[in-house]
This record gives sequence, C-alpha cells and structure tokens, in this order.
Amino acid sequence: MALHAFLVLVLAAIGVLVHAHGALVVDTAPDTPRPYVLPNLKGGAVDFGGLIIRTLVSNSTSAGALSVLGANSGPSGLSIIHSHKQVETFYTIKGSVQVFHNTNQGRELRANDFVLLAPGSNHTYRFNDPDCQLTLCLAPGGVEGLFTAVGSPYNSSAPFNPEDKPQLNVTEVLELFPKYGITPAPYNTIDLDWTNGTTRDGLGTWHVADQPLPNDAATPYFISSNLGPKYLHRSTGQVIGLLASGTQTNNKLTVATVAMKPGSQPAAVTFDVHQALQVTEGQLHLEMNHETVTMTFGDLAFIPKGTFFSYWSTVGFTKFVTWSAGPGLADSLIKEAEQWNHAVWPA
Ligand SMILES: *[C@@H]1O[C@H](CO)[C@@H](O)[C@H](O)[C@H]1NC(C)=O
Ligand SMILES: *[C@@H]1O[C@H](CO)[C@@H](O)[C@H](O)[C@H]1NC(C)=O
Ligand SMILES: *[C@@H]1O[C@H](CO)[C@@H](O)[C@H](O)[C@H]1NC(C)=O
Ligand SMILES: *[C@@H]1O[C@H](CO)[C@@H](O)[C@H](O)[C@H]1NC(C)=O
Ligand SMILES: *[C@@H]1O[C@H](CO)[C@@H](O)[C@H](O)[C@H]1NC(C)=O
Repeated sequence: MALHAFLVLVLAAIGVLVHAHGALVVDTAPDTPRPYVLPNLKGGAVDFGGLIIRTLVSNSTSAGALSVLGANSGPSGLSIIHSHKQVETFYTIKGSVQVFHNTNQGRELRANDFVLLAPGSNHTYRFNDPDCQLTLCLAPGGVEGLFTAVGSPYNSSAPFNPEDKPQLNVTEVLELFPKYGITPAPYNTIDLDWTNGTTRDGLGTWHVADQPLPNDAATPYFISSNLGPKYLHRSTGQVIGLLASGTQTNNKLTVATVAMKPGSQPAAVTFDVHQALQVTEGQLHLEMNHETVTMTFGDLAFIPKGTFFSYWSTVGFTKFVTWSAGPGLADSLIKEAEQWNHAVWPA
C-alpha cells in the first residue's frame, strides 16, 4: 500500500475514534461528569403541576456540586412559600416571573434579571408571561430528585403544554420536601403589594439604578439586567456582569454574564471546578474534547473541572451566563479586568 493511502486510512480511523469519543451534543444530561452540550429545550423533563422542569445539569453530572434546571411555563399560581438549605438562583431567560422573599421584598424578573435566595430565606414565585423560561441553579445539587419523584414524565418539544390541566399531589410534595433540604412555610405571609414590578423598597433601583451585591452569604437579593457590578476584560473585549460570587454563596457558586465581541479562537483554558454556560444572545463557538460546537439561544454546555476548552464568537454580539461551583471562568476574567460602568465593550 502506498504511504499516502495508508496515511489516509489511519487519519480516517482517528477521525472515527474522535467522532465516537466526541459526540458532545446530547439529549439528556449524562450521569457522570463529562463535557457535553445540551441544546435549548432538551434534557430529561417532567411536568410539575404545569411547570415543565428540564434537568440541564444533574447532581450526578456534577458529582454533587450543583443542579441546573430549566423551567418553562405560562401564567401560573403562586407556589408554596418555602426555603432551601441550598443556595438558589434564578436567571430569567424570557418572559417574566414574580419572586417574593422574606415577607417584604418582591420583584418582577424579566429577561436577564437575577435573584439569589440565600439558604433559609422564605420565598415564593409566580409566572406572569404567556411564554416564560428561566434557569434555576441550586448548590449543592440534587433538587431535581424531588421534581422527578413527584412530576409526571413530559415528552414533547413544546416548551410547556398550554392545554395542561395541572395536577400535583401537594401531600406528596410536602412529605418529600425534607429529603431535598426544603422547608415549607405555609403560614408565612408575603407582601404581594407592589407597583411597577417591585415592592416599595425597589422603586428607586429596580430596572433603574445600579444594585450592589451584599457582603455576606445570608442576604437574599435581586439584580436587574446589566445593573450589577461589571468588569471589562479589555484585551479580549469581554464584559463580565457579576451576579454572585463566593462571598454571597459561602464559596459554593459563582454566577455571571459574559458579553463578548467577535474574534478568533483563543488558547484553551481549564479550571478546577465544574461549570456550565448557557447562551442568551448571538452565537458562541465552543471547543472541548477536540470537537467544536456552535451554540445559540438557550444551548447549555457543561465543562467538568480539568477540561480544556476555548470559546469565541464571530458575530456582532454574543452573551452567555455562567455558573461555576467555586471560582471559575468569570472569577478568572475579573482578576484581569477593570471596573466598568457599561454593558458593552468600548469601540
Ligand atoms: C448529590 O450527590 C452527592 C455526591 O454524589 C450525594 O452525596 C448526595 O446525596 C446527592 N444528593 C441528592 C439529593 O441526591
Ligand atoms: C418521546 O417521544 C418521541 C417522539 O415522539 C418518541 O420517539 C419516544 O419514544 C418517546 N419517549 C418516551 C420515553 O415516551
Ligand atoms: C397523594 O400522596 C399521598 C402521600 O404520598 C398518598 O397517600 C395519596 O394517596 C396521594 N393522593 C392521590 C390522589 O394520589
Ligand atoms: C420563614 O417562615 C417561617 C414560618 O412562617 C418562620 O418561622 C421563619 O422565621 C421564616 N424565616 C425567615 C428567615 O424569615
Ligand atoms: C410607576 O411608573 C409610572 C410610569 O413610569 C410612573 O409614572 C409612576 O410614578 C411609577 N409609580 C411609582 C410609585 O413609582
């Protein structure tokens, strides 16, 4: 056999192997930590009283570090008031959801608005919009076990079922709460009295002014789109919007947005924590495991600790949210960044 033909065969065999090992794109979150990309609205799903919950990163995917869940719904009733042992965050992807906590504070979260519910803070929520999607993250992980145990399997490409007649066995839910670190507070009363998407305390800031992060891990808080602390990583044209760091989560979680300008593929990086990122605008190229995937709205990537990856964009404006179970990509970018008062990079 000519050397040339031999090389072609060898390369073809390697290609097949890489392909078999690659297959980054999956339909459900794997049960062990491995790199993957889950397209928008994929992932094991259950109908939990009309709310469709999709597991994007499970407790076993992340070896216990965190759970990332997608929630889709139309207008809904108010959920049972409760608190968690875990840190819980909501990042609104589209539509709107009202979130109330600790008897007195409430905000309407629209796209790119954020809330952190500190461990022990009573809260409840209600979806408002005809087409809502939000991404929940709880650290440590495992809460999807509750939804799977009580919900009914949902197997449809519809984000949720607008003809659904929601059914939930509330007795069963309450019985299972303690196993998942949840405490119901049915006799708690929360102030639902608000104007312009906020209770009185937020009138001067919500969707209007900058909002700081608290200096402790016990205070629940809200950050409206682009109005939390921001940093510019000038050399790469990335703007990092910090939503939660180790200080607010007892080192369990960092949550941030990254908006980035177009550029060419940078060198790969790696971190010592499990992390996930979800695209909210534009188009992101992600290379890991020798495979490149192009991600758009709602697509989520899971990047296990120790995985080398690089990400870049070739379109005008790309933005993603990142969650890391400890200091990860956002923390590292911020270390090399300057404080910045804008949502986009300079010309
Ligand atoms: C989550 O995973 C961790 C580590 O595997 C395990 O110890 C824990 O029991 C799990 N939690 C739940 C609720 O399944
Ligand atoms: C889900 O729906 C798809 C397409 O209709 C079908 O092929 C598949 O068997 C269903 N899976 C389950 C578990 O019902
Ligand atoms: C609801 O759950 C409880 C506790 O698991 C069970 O005893 C009861 O039969 C269930 N009710 C219905 C209507 O399924
Ligand atoms: C949560 O609600 C319960 C029951 O109403 C109450 O005892 C507890 O103090 C509340 N916790 C906080 C942090 O407000
Ligand atoms: C609510 O918003 C409207 C329209 O911007 C404004 O006129 C009104 O003063 C606001 N209400 C309060 C209580 O701030």
